[in-house]
Amino acid sequence: MIIAVDGPAASGKGTIARALARHYGLPHLDTGLLYRAVAATVLRDELDPAQEADAVAATSFDDLLLADEWLRTDEVGKAASVSAHPLVRSALLQRQKRFAMQPNGAILDGRDIGTVIAPDADAKLFVKATPMIRARRRHAELQKCGSTVSLDRVLSDIRARDDRDSTREQAPLVAAPDAAVLDTSFLSVESAIQKAIALVEAQL
Ligand code: C5P
Repeated sequence: MIIAVDGPAASGKGTIARALARHYGLPHLDTGLLYRAVAATVLRDELDPAQEADAVAATSFDDLLLADEWLRTDEVGKAASVSAHPLVRSALLQRQKRFAMQPNGAILDGRDIGTVIAPDADAKLFVKATPMIRARRRHAELQKCGSTVSLDRVLSDIRARDDRDSTREQAPLVAAPDAAVLDTSFLSVESAIQKAIALVEAQL
């Protein structure tokens, strides 16, 4: 069984995908981490993705996947706009497809799982929430880590990232036509998870 979970930053897709993985006992891949690892090599090796996209796509980043906490910072998140480069996307394509093809299935979350990586997934969710609510969630997380960044700043960053992810030519962020849309704006984490399970069950 393959379950595809897509959606914008701080929509709740990661939390939902992890909960579904526990519920169904399936392996889970947060595909954003792959793009973040590539972005981290760009920062570490001071590459210019516009000039050296082939070098970026060819870098090995498995060691960086272990630096999970750094990968999740905003600095790396912004640099993850390298994901717009076709060479970077094609370098990560097979790896994600292989993960989805495991014997018992898998759950992947990202931006293009239901549209590109696993268009034949058994169940697809598109998780969304209003930009302001996503900004508040991200802001609270950042404050917990001691950051003093303003809510306005987080909101404009979220809007900019949505814009970049939705308008790129290759694999833009868009709900697959057969995805069930789950708006988590006014849901607690627990009810979002319960709704997600119900929406998956309805597709099986
Ligand atoms: O989900 P997360 O915020 O970790 O993703 C970081 C960035 O990686 C996104 O803003 C997006 O540009 C890119 N990404 C992507 N396709 C995916 C997952 C992430 O382009 N399947």
